[in-house]
Amino acid sequence: MALRTLKRIRKSTVIDSPEAMRRWGREFAKTLRWGDVVAFMGPLGAGKTTLIQGIAAGWGSPSLAVSPTFALAHEYPSKRGTLFHMDMYRLSKRELADFPLEDYLGQGVCLIEWADRIRDRWPERTFQVSLDYWGENARRLTLHS
Ligand SMILES: Nc1ncnc2c1ncn2[C@@H]1O[C@H](COP(=O)(O)OP(=O)(O)O)[C@@H](O)[C@H]1O
Ligand SMILES: [Mg+2]
Repeated sequence: MALRTLKRIRKSTVIDSPEAMRRWGREFAKTLRWGDVVAFMGPLGAGKTTLIQGIAAGWGSPSLAVSPTFALAHEYPSKRGTLFHMDMYRLSKRELADFPLEDYLGQGVCLIEWADRIRDRWPERTFQVSLDYWGENARRLTLHS
């Protein structure tokens, strides 16, 4: 996956609005393949969920992504398979240890917010997307594998 995307944006890109963030996500979704795991990092409000809304739309799912606060993972089915959206933010140490990550891996595409909280369980080929504040309404997106 994402090789094309990696080449296109090189190291990082600045995204100047929530709409542009969703648009980037829709494009990025085209590069995703069954089995891909993407780790999303960055502070609260950096745009991880906004980006994943765009990815879910680009994946071809009819439902809008929201942070999975009450469910372990939100599932976005489409004819390309299932996109799983997880968020490690609110989980305690205990809940993180119990989180059934491995049950999702290989079942579709896994998008993990606050993935740094379970870094020791990432599969080998995990792509990383980091978001940072960049001025008032811009964010810097860095993609690396
Ligand atoms: N360039 C931008 N990209 C993404 N979100 C932005 C941008 N500028 C402002 N925002 C706002 O920042 C917030 C990002 O929230 P969210 O996507 O939930 O972040 P996170 O999931 O990282 O905590 C939203 O309120 C969004 O409207
Ligand atoms: Mg979020």
